Amino acid sequence: MRVTIYEVGPRDGLQNEDVVVPVEVKREFIGRLADAGLTTIEATSFVHPTWVPQLADAAELLDGLRRVPGVRYPVLVPNERGLDRALEHGVTEIAIFGSATETFARRNLNRSLDSQFEMFEPVVARALEHGLRVRAYVSMCFADPWEGQVAPAQVVRVGRRLLDLGCYELSLGDTIGVGTPAHVTALLEAFGAEGVGPERLAVHFHDTYGQALANTLTALRMGVTTVDASTGGIGGCPYAKSATGNLATEDLVWMLDGLGIETGVDLRSLTATSLWLAGKLGRPSPSRVVQALAKE
Ligand code: HMG
Ligand code: MG
Repeated sequence: MRVTIYEVGPRDGLQNEDVVVPVEVKREFIGRLADAGLTTIEATSFVHPTWVPQLADAAELLDGLRRVPGVRYPVLVPNERGLDRALEHGVTEIAIFGSATETFARRNLNRSLDSQFEMFEPVVARALEHGLRVRAYVSMCFADPWEGQVAPAQVVRVGRRLLDLGCYELSLGDTIGVGTPAHVTALLEAFGAEGVGPERLAVHFHDTYGQALANTLTALRMGVTTVDASTGGIGGCPYAKSATGNLATEDLVWMLDGLGIETGVDLRSLTATSLWLAGKLGRPSPSRVVQALAKE
């Protein structure tokens, strides 16, 4: 078995740091991730720059980025303006990001739940015309800070509509990190019952309540083979205040190595990158594996 790690540190990680990291540090971060063996690295976002000032340098970042052959560098795109900007800067893969709840759709996208699809539809259609690959996220798949628990059927309805636009994969986001393995099982079963199998699904866990690794293992056992993670466990979501960092890539790689599952990632090199980045961010990595390896 092989697991694809979809690295989100440069985007989901850096979008929520108080420090705005200089563009050359971002480029070095992305370069180091590729050198450590990561093959899918979400590089940045073409969102409104005042909504996420940490990633306002997306164009400049991509223009000077050293691209390693065989590595994919998707970017987040919410709307046609974002797509135009992404196309101008050589992007070949994008991700749209929908919400499973009304409140988060309004807070994160300034749209109602229903009108988010109207925003995404021309983005996906035009991206596909340009030969781009399009991934879709669904946020708040387990609970939402304003609306509480989110029913699996609601997530499936939203996810189905995003896939039907023409996206190759759906990443299920536990944006605030409250899910537990039983939730994960129920959600994946609900998708399966609607004909969406694990080969179309990825999982995206934030580690707020320390459940990310247990949730990931649950998803792997149910056949999911793409897992989102952020090197050093940095990150969160600026429009969901209770979100903390993603599952740390190092914690994921440690578990997968132990299970004999291949990832192609060099854990020591990744950890060295997290320690280097922690110096730039001025705070230690929350990853348990980074902390443990730093003491060896
Ligand atoms: P809006 O204000 O409704 O935009 O924002 P608008 O369409 O009304 O346009 C207003 C002005 O903004 C216009 O300029 C547009 O051109 C400009 P004007 O004509 O007034 O001069 N504009 C843009 N400029 C640059 N790039 C753009 C863009 N779009 C419009 N793309 C919008 C709507 C969606 C843009 C805004 O709400 C936004 O940027 N939201 C993004 C928020 C965000 O990035 N959140 C974090 C990512 S999601 C996440 O982290 C969750 C995830 O990790 C999964 C999980 O954990 O669950 C993915
Ligand atoms: Mg996220």
